[in-house]
Amino acid sequence: MIVIENVLSPEVLAEATKALAEMRWEDGRKTAGATARRVKQNQQADLSTRAGAKVRDLLLDTVKRHPVVEAFARPLKFAPPLISRTGVGDTYGLHIDNPVMGKGETRIRTDLSFTLFLSPPETYEGGELEIETVFRTESVKLPAGSLVIYPSTELHRVAPVTAGERYVFVSWIQSAIRDAGQRAILFDIANLKAALARTFPQGSPELLNLAKTEANLIRMWADA
Ligand code: NI
Repeated sequence: MIVIENVLSPEVLAEATKALAEMRWEDGRKTAGATARRVKQNQQADLSTRAGAKVRDLLLDTVKRHPVVEAFARPLKFAPPLISRTGVGDTYGLHIDNPVMGKGETRIRTDLSFTLFLSPPETYEGGELEIETVFRTESVKLPAGSLVIYPSTELHRVAPVTAGERYVFVSWIQSAIRDAGQRAILFDIANLKAALARTFPQGSPELLNLAKTEANLIRMWADA
């Protein structure tokens, strides 16, 4: 699990916030799986409108281009994203995300889930994303424009909102590196590479060898 701060620039966040006011909202149960439907109570933006598609593409492109998202998740495919609104009394009870989403060309295996917070935390009460890991429950409530990526293998819920409104942008990632342990090794190597690039000159044997190791592990492990 990783938190990435300030994924959205102030300009992109302002544009998304403005767009939220013009969205058409529908019942969130429409996109929930059979077990999640019973515990899901929120609204989702209709992203099939021109304004909806524009903000969806803006946010998804920004997430896709982020270098830490790339290094941590190694995305192969993204599921169609959602923008959800959780108002007073709404909640999304404990559930597991669908393991496979979409059909045909858009079919993906969900390895990782992400939530990009769009509302400043001081504008609503409750609404924490709570993820049950093996050791503890992680409670996540981030500044607007920040993102959490977590394994889709974990049970999670959204705590009831008791004041204000919580807006988030969510989607799922099929990683090119299916195994979480292998993904973690590649993330360590990416971080090490960035750290060593501050000490060793570009093209040095040390950096070249590390790049070779990274490339060959990806070659060994990647689905494509
Ligand atoms: Ni979920």
